[in-house]
Amino acid sequence: MEISANYILAIETSCDETSAAVVSFDRQIRSNVVLSQDLIHAPFGGVVPELASRQHLKTILPVVEEALRRSELKLQDIAAFAVTQGPGLIGSLLVGVCFAKALAYYYHRPLIGIDHLQAHIESVFLSHRDIPFPSLALIVSGGHTSLFYLPERLKYRLLGRTRDDAAGEALDKVAKFLGLGYPGGPIIERLAEGGFARAFAFAIPRMKDNSLDFSFSGLKTAALKLIKDEEITASHAQLKDFLASFESAIVESLLFNLSQALSIYKAEAILLCGGVARNRRLRSCFLELGKEKGVKAYLPLPEYCTDNAAMVGALAAEIIRLNKPIASPLDLDAYARFKPD
Ligand code: KG4
Ligand code: ZN
Repeated sequence: MEISANYILAIETSCDETSAAVVSFDRQIRSNVVLSQDLIHAPFGGVVPELASRQHLKTILPVVEEALRRSELKLQDIAAFAVTQGPGLIGSLLVGVCFAKALAYYYHRPLIGIDHLQAHIESVFLSHRDIPFPSLALIVSGGHTSLFYLPERLKYRLLGRTRDDAAGEALDKVAKFLGLGYPGGPIIERLAEGGFARAFAFAIPRMKDNSLDFSFSGLKTAALKLIKDEEITASHAQLKDFLASFESAIVESLLFNLSQALSIYKAEAILLCGGVARNRRLRSCFLELGKEKGVKAYLPLPEYCTDNAAMVGALAAEIIRLNKPIASPLDLDAYARFKPD
């Protein structure tokens, strides 16, 4: 393979995946290694923050080495480093940030701090180059449910976010309650296949103040109550219907806000991303909404929906291409919640 200096080594450790990728300045992905911690957190039915940070400490070096090996490059060939700064679990983020800082300092290379939500949005641009603006981006994951207005490339305006649980978190908690396993989203998707989505009624939450914020704790509590009242278990005859109804309520609630936003903001396109964007019911309803509203609808490839460093590297490449300011590596810090101004 031809070696040029224009490569970025990107690192992502915001939650429970240790990931490293090598991405060229022209956004070609040379490698993208994702090491999941699912087996470690599965017995607890959710991510245990301290276990996640300790596991990142163990795996960050082999994951970075594997990403370099697959890209057929060496650290000396890397022109810039990129790392997820936040939001996420602070202990997990700090592992990636410290590791990347040390590399950038030692090799005298720039270090680009990346916002995790913006990186998820970037995953859509990995497979679609000509997305028109303005557009609306819906991020649906285990830790976040947020809606952004994108007036142009690399500009993000938050329109709404969850006031309680994230959509993926609600799926994970219901699966945990039923003892189905972790992460719950893909398990619910598999078990709900072929189920009758109108079998159980769920009230879709509406914000009283007309805001575009989301709320999933009500749907989750309603699901837990139904499980108790109807004595639904993992072997219940109507499990499939129950899960299909719950999954469908989550999808409806997510797309209701997106549809509201489309009636307020003039947008040419809608984008969907984050771990829950792997869900086939959500993907097909999202594409239908695009058709119905006459806007283009864009999705990432399923492998780039869940946390990965390729989207981090691709966003860093775009930041370099557009000559955005890059701070000194030693000034870079992690943030648990929102990007500081
Ligand atoms: O983006 P992600 O990897 O991590 C966060 O930034 O949170 O998303 C993980 C979430 C989990 O809640 C998981 O249950 C959900 O994405 N998820 C799915 C599917 N695959 C992953 N939810 C529904 N259907 C899926 N196929
Ligand atoms: Zn994520």
